[in-house]
Amino acid sequence: MKEQIEKIKITAKEEVKNALDLQSLDEVRVKYLGKKGELTGVLRGMGAISQEERPIIGGLVNTAKEEIENAIKEKEEELKVIELNKKLENEKIDITLPSVKVKRGSKHPINRIIEELEDLFVSMGYDVVDGPELETDEYCFERLNLPKGHPARDMQDTFYVTTEYLLRTQTSAVQARVMMDNKEKTPIRVICPGKTYRRDDDATHSHQFGQIEGLVIDEGISLAHLKGTLEVFVKHMLGADSKLRFRPSYFPFTEPSYEVDVSCFKCGGKGCNLCKQTGWIEILGSGMVHPNVLKMNGYDPEKYSGFAFGTGLDRLAMFKYGITDIRLLYANDVRFLNQFDRKD
Ligand code: DAH
Repeated sequence: MKEQIEKIKITAKEEVKNALDLQSLDEVRVKYLGKKGELTGVLRGMGAISQEERPIIGGLVNTAKEEIENAIKEKEEELKVIELNKKLENEKIDITLPSVKVKRGSKHPINRIIEELEDLFVSMGYDVVDGPELETDEYCFERLNLPKGHPARDMQDTFYVTTEYLLRTQTSAVQARVMMDNKEKTPIRVICPGKTYRRDDDATHSHQFGQIEGLVIDEGISLAHLKGTLEVFVKHMLGADSKLRFRPSYFPFTEPSYEVDVSCFKCGGKGCNLCKQTGWIEILGSGMVHPNVLKMNGYDPEKYSGFAFGTGLDRLAMFKYGITDIRLLYANDVRFLNQFDRKD
C-alpha cells in the first residue's frame, strides 16, 4: 500500500508538471484528489488494513495529498502567468491602425442663419426672446391691430386649432407678448426667431417655415433708426455691397409700413432669373409700430415710439446658400444637410 501511495504521488506530480494549461491541470487534480480520485480511493480501502497500520497509511495519504496540492498550486501560478502573457500579447493595441470614423451631424442651414442673426443683434444690445407656436387669436391678430373680420387676415392662411387657438402665422405675435409681459413698460429691444405655420405648400412656400421678428420701443425712436438697423442686418447677411430699397406697403401693426428690397446678389442689380429681371429681391416687412398697437399693449404712444420688422428665415437661407426649393429645408435628407458642414 505504501508503494501504491508513493507511485500515485510520483505519477500525479509528473502529470502536474506536464499540464499545459489551467484546464488540464484541473483535470489532474480531479483525477487524483477528487471525490472519485485515486488517492481518495486508497483511503476508502483502509477498512481492509490492520488497526495499527491505519494511522501510518492515513498519514502517508495526507502527506501525498499535501505534496500534490502544493505542486498543483505552484503549477497553477506558473500557468496563470503564461496565460496572462498570452492574453496581453493577443490584446496588444496597434496604435497605427486608422480609427473608426465617427459620423458627425451638421448644423441645419436655418439654425446657422438664426445663430448668425442672434450674434449680430445681441452685439447691438438686443435680447433674444421666445413665444408659443400654439398661439391665441388674441396675440397673433387682435393685439396687433387685426380685429376679427379684418380683411388683412386673409393675407395669412391660418391653421386654426379651435376658434381661439391657432398655429402662429407670424412671429409678430411675440411683439404683443413682449409688450404685455413688460409690466413696468420700459424700453424694449428684442428679436424673436421661431417657427411659423400657414396653409401653403409649393417650391417657395412650406406649411411650416421660420421667421425672425425684431421690435424696438423707446422714447424718440424714428424711421432713421429702422433704416440704419436694417442696413446693418441685410449687409451683414447678404454682403456689404447690398443696396436697400424701401417701398411703402401696408401691415396692420405698423404705420407707416415698408417692404424692403435688396439689390439682387446674383446679378448685382442688372436683372436675372432670380430677381425676375427687376434687379431687386423683396426681403422683409417693416415699419413704425402702430400707435394702436402700443396703446393696446399698455404703452403710451405719446411718450413711446418704436419700429418692427419681420422676415422669413427660409428665404434668407435660400438666398445665402443658393437653395432653390424650400421643401429641401424640411425633408431631413442627409445628402442635402451634409453640405452644410462645420468648416466655414
Ligand atoms: N408679420 C409679417 C408677415 O408675416 C412681417 C412683418 C411685417 C413683420 C412688418 C413686422 C413688420 O414686424 O413690421 O408677413
